[in-house]
Amino acid sequence: MKREEIIKKYKPEKDNLLLILQEIQDNNELNYISEKDMEEVSKYLNVCMAEITGVVGYYSMFSTKPRGKNLIRICCSPVCCMVGGEKIERIFKNELGIGIGETDKNNEFTIEETECLGQCGNGPVIMVNDKVYTELSAEKIKEIINKHRHNANGKK
Ligand code: FES
Repeated sequence: MKREEIIKKYKPEKDNLLLILQEIQDNNELNYISEKDMEEVSKYLNVCMAEITGVVGYYSMFSTKPRGKNLIRICCSPVCCMVGGEKIERIFKNELGIGIGETDKNNEFTIEETECLGQCGNGPVIMVNDKVYTELSAEKIKEIINKHRHNANGKK
């Protein structure tokens, strides 16, 4: 669905800002919100650009940079770090050739950092799209990557 069609589905009320932004991002092939998207939402809702960019920057679910079909979030909070969180980052780097904040050349995976995912007793922990994976090992990471590789739409 096109940006204009998405925006017009909603009443021009500020309360709809998050819903509109989320739907625009979900409908973007590269899973992000562009400057033009934000400008159009700004005009429609009569909300200044500074506020829109502030909201997009505040919520980690939004991105202003293209993302791969699968979003891998590595927990970088202290408990996971103590039980090998950094090693997890290196394993992903070896397997996918990308580090934190990067997307692979096939646009299949993006890796980002995240704060605690609420599974501290079972670290290291990652989240891929909307699923949390615990007690990670190199073996488990390879399985997770294979499961999501060639996933036509990582959000499902
Ligand atoms: S510190 Fe990683 S899940 Fe809590």
